[in-house]
Amino acid sequence: MPHELRPVSSPEDWKRLHAIRRAVLFAPDRHAVDYDENHPDDRAEGNIPFLLLLDGRAIGVVRIDFRGATAVVRLVAIAEAEQRKGHGRTLDALVAAEARRRGVSSLRVNAAPDAVGYYEKAGWLPASWDRSELVGIAKDCVQMTKAL
Ligand SMILES: CC(C)(COP(=O)(O)OP(=O)(O)OC[C@H]1O[C@@H](n2cnc3c(N)ncnc32)[C@H](O)[C@@H]1OP(=O)(O)O)[C@@H](O)C(=O)NCCC(=O)NCCS
Repeated sequence: MPHELRPVSSPEDWKRLHAIRRAVLFAPDRHAVDYDENHPDDRAEGNIPFLLLLDGRAIGVVRIDFRGATAVVRLVAIAEAEQRKGHGRTLDALVAAEARRRGVSSLRVNAAPDAVGYYEKAGWLPASWDRSELVGIAKDCVQMTKAL
């Protein structure tokens, strides 16, 4: 299979994850916040950061925060040179499969305003799930959910 969704494990994996997040999600023109490579949420109970590999090469990232029958999909990014080639759609399908496998029936996301169209194409629907999350870098996000 050319695509693989793999939990981050080795120091090399963490480097790849941070590099994609920094370049895509924390680029200076996107957010005026410093990226923290040691954020406790990346290692909190139930939270799993993943790499999307294409033929063994890291081209995307996502973190899934598992909370029983629901899970929150966070920090979704495809490396800039690989965007708009269908990898995001594959990432979404692999996330859904991984979540289903772990007993999740409903996914949640705080979608960046310019990514709402992407989520809609992947079957997500706007639905408020926790307004208290819409602060800081997520203040303009649109909450969406997807039933699995
Ligand atoms: C959003 C993102 C993950 C999508 O990944 P991608 O690989 O570019 O998406 P795909 O090529 O698989 O596109 C899937 C579909 O969504 C559409 N799409 C992709 N990005 C879109 C966007 N920003 N707005 C509207 N539609 C979009 C594509 O046109 C495609 O539709 P089609 O199949 O009808 O042609 C990626 O562009 C990215 O990392 N963007 C910057 C970071 C970001 O916004 N992350 C989400 C934060 S919540």
